Amino acid sequence: MSAPLRNPVGAGLPEPTIRTATLADLDALVALEHAAFAIDRAERRAIRHAIGSPTMDVLAALIDPPDGDPTPVLVGAAVLERRRSSRIARLASIAVAPNRGGLGLGGKLLDAAETRARAHGCDRLRLEVRADNGAGIRLYERRGYTRFAVRPDYYEDGMEAWRYERAL
Ligand SMILES: CC(C)(COP(=O)(O)OP(=O)(O)OC[C@H]1O[C@@H](n2cnc3c(N)ncnc32)[C@H](O)[C@@H]1OP(=O)(O)O)[C@@H](O)C(=O)NCCC(=O)NCCS
Repeated sequence: MSAPLRNPVGAGLPEPTIRTATLADLDALVALEHAAFAIDRAERRAIRHAIGSPTMDVLAALIDPPDGDPTPVLVGAAVLERRRSSRIARLASIAVAPNRGGLGLGGKLLDAAETRARAHGCDRLRLEVRADNGAGIRLYERRGYTRFAVRPDYYEDGMEAWRYERAL
């Protein structure tokens, strides 16, 4: 007997809404950080600081649960960082809930981060990614980011970071 056909990726799943995170999202953001990253996690206080910072944007991707529960579920997040004197923005973090990976949500969060950076007058976006992060590297390269530097021994476990950038 042949295996059943898989549904097209993402079919039937609700479309997420992306908005600026508030302190009410803090618990969910911490839980997402733990689910998405094995090491080098941002601590709760760092996430709280990012939410309140005038030079950072925390973007939250939410979906309405299918069972009619009115509380939206956090399925992804991105953190954008700026410096007052620079037109180069930095994507400090991007994460998608593991059960939502590979459905294009990372691309949507990246779009939202780029739009936000442009709105702040930035003309370039930079980021670092672990050299062994296949999903991240694929996401950035498919979207026109180019590698411009390598930082050895950047992460907690000694892994090097690849630095990428893209003109906005
Ligand atoms: C990186 C991450 C944000 C990508 O989010 P996503 O929603 O899965 O992204 P997309 O669905 O837009 O897919 C990104 C690409 O990676 C591919 N991909 C997904 N998982 C992969 C894997 N394990 N290995 C290689 N490629 C993978 C997808 O097929 C897609 O490629 P395509 O556009 O050619 O089909 C997500 O995997 C994640 O949260 N990872 C954990 C946290 C993390 O590593 N963040 C990045 C730090 S720099």
